[in-house]
Amino acid sequence: MTSTTSTTTAIRLAGRASHLPPSATAALDARAKQLIADGVDVINLTSGEPAFPTVEPAARAALAAIAEDFTKYTPAAGIPALRTAVAAYLNRHHTRYESGDVVITAGAKQALHHAFTVLLEPGDEVLVPAPYWVSYPHMVTLVGGVPVEVRPTPGSGLKITPELVRRAITPNTRVLLLNSPANPSGVVYTHDELAALAAVAAEHDLTVISDEICDHWVYGTSFTSVASLGPDVAARTLTIGGMSKTFAMTGWRIGWIAAPAHVAKAVAAVQSHTASAPSSVSQRAALGALTADLDEELSRRRTALDERRQAVLQRLDKVPGVRVDGDARGAFFVFADVSGTYGLTAGDRTIGSAADFAELLLARADVAVVPGTDFAAPDHVRISYTVPPDRLAVALDRLSHFVTDLTVPGP
Ligand SMILES: Cc1ncc(COP(=O)(O)O)c(C=O)c1O
Repeated sequence: MTSTTSTTTAIRLAGRASHLPPSATAALDARAKQLIADGVDVINLTSGEPAFPTVEPAARAALAAIAEDFTKYTPAAGIPALRTAVAAYLNRHHTRYESGDVVITAGAKQALHHAFTVLLEPGDEVLVPAPYWVSYPHMVTLVGGVPVEVRPTPGSGLKITPELVRRAITPNTRVLLLNSPANPSGVVYTHDELAALAAVAAEHDLTVISDEICDHWVYGTSFTSVASLGPDVAARTLTIGGMSKTFAMTGWRIGWIAAPAHVAKAVAAVQSHTASAPSSVSQRAALGALTADLDEELSRRRTALDERRQAVLQRLDKVPGVRVDGDARGAFFVFADVSGTYGLTAGDRTIGSAADFAELLLARADVAVVPGTDFAAPDHVRISYTVPPDRLAVALDRLSHFVTDLTVPGP
C-alpha cells in the first residue's frame, strides 16, 4: 500500500503557505520541553504565558456551561453578554466601547488575522515596529499585505518615534501597528508617546491596530489604551486583546477586537465564514472571569511577576557582556543585548550571534531563552520571568556562570 506521506509531493502548496516558516519561538520551546521530557533539568525561560492557573471563576463557569449543555454554535460575534462584559472591561482604561463594537474571537491571534483580513488590499503596507512579535509580519503577508519594519534608533530604549514612522510612510501605507506592553521587548509606551504616534496616524490617514493583550502586566508605570486618546483616535483604531495573558487562559482561546461598529460588523462576517464563532464553553468561562471580582487576585499575580522581574534585572546588571535594553516595565519579558559576549568561546564554539548564545546556554547550562532572530533583533535574547522564583534564581545563577566561564579565544 502506498503511504500518504510518499504521495504528498503531488500536492503543490500555495506560495503563501510554502514560504511560511514555522515559529522559531515554538521550535525552541519544543526543544526545551523535549529535553525536560528526556529527564534533563532544563529551566525554560522561553514561555509566552504566565505560569499561573486559570482563574477559578472561569473554570467554574465553564463547568456550569457544560452541565447546562451550552455547547452549540453561538452568534458569530460572540454571546451578547460577553461582548457587553468585554466593552465594560476595556472601558476601565477610559475607552467608550459598546457591546456592538466588540467581536469575540479565538484568541487575540485570530483577532489580528481578522483585522488584517478586513483592512488590507494586496500590496497595502503595515508599519511594524521592531523588535516585533514573531507572528505579525506573517499575518500581514498571509492576506497579501506588505509588512514594513520601523526600527528604533540604537540606544533609544527600543521605542519607535513619530519621526521614524513618518520616514517609513509611503503612498501604500495603510496601517500602523502598535503593541504596548510589547512582546518581545517588554517596553511600555507612555500616554504622550502613544498620543504622538496616533497624531502621525491621523496626519496620514492610517488605521491603527493596537495589540493590548498584555495591558494588565505593567510594573511601576501606567498602561494607556490607544483608543482612550480621544474620539478621533478611537475612530481609526482597532483594539486587540484577550483572556490569555491577564487571566492565564491561553488554552481557552478567547480574544477580541473592539473597533468602530462597521469594522466590528465586517470582522464578525469574516468570522462567520471562517470559524462560525469561538468555543461556547470558553466564552462562558471568559464571562465568568470578567464578571467576577478578581482585582485582588490579579494584583497579587502582578506583584509576584514584578518581584521576579526585579530579580532578573538586578542579576543581569552584574553579568558582563549582557545588557538589558528598553525599560522592561511590561509583559513578562526582559530583552537583553548579548553582543558583548561576541567573540568569546564556550568549549570549541565561538559566540557570534544571539542565536549562538541561546544555543550554547541551553546546551551547556540547561537554560532556555529565545534568541531575537525572528523578532528582528539578532543581538538580543528574550528572557521570560514567569517561572517560580526558586527556579528563576537557579536559572540566573546558571546564566551568570555560563557567561563568566566564557573565554577569550587563544591566539
Ligand atoms: C503580542 C501578542 N499578541 C497576541 C498574542 C496572541 O494571544 P492569544 O493567545 O490571545 O491568541 C500574543 C501571544 O503570545 C502576543 O504575545
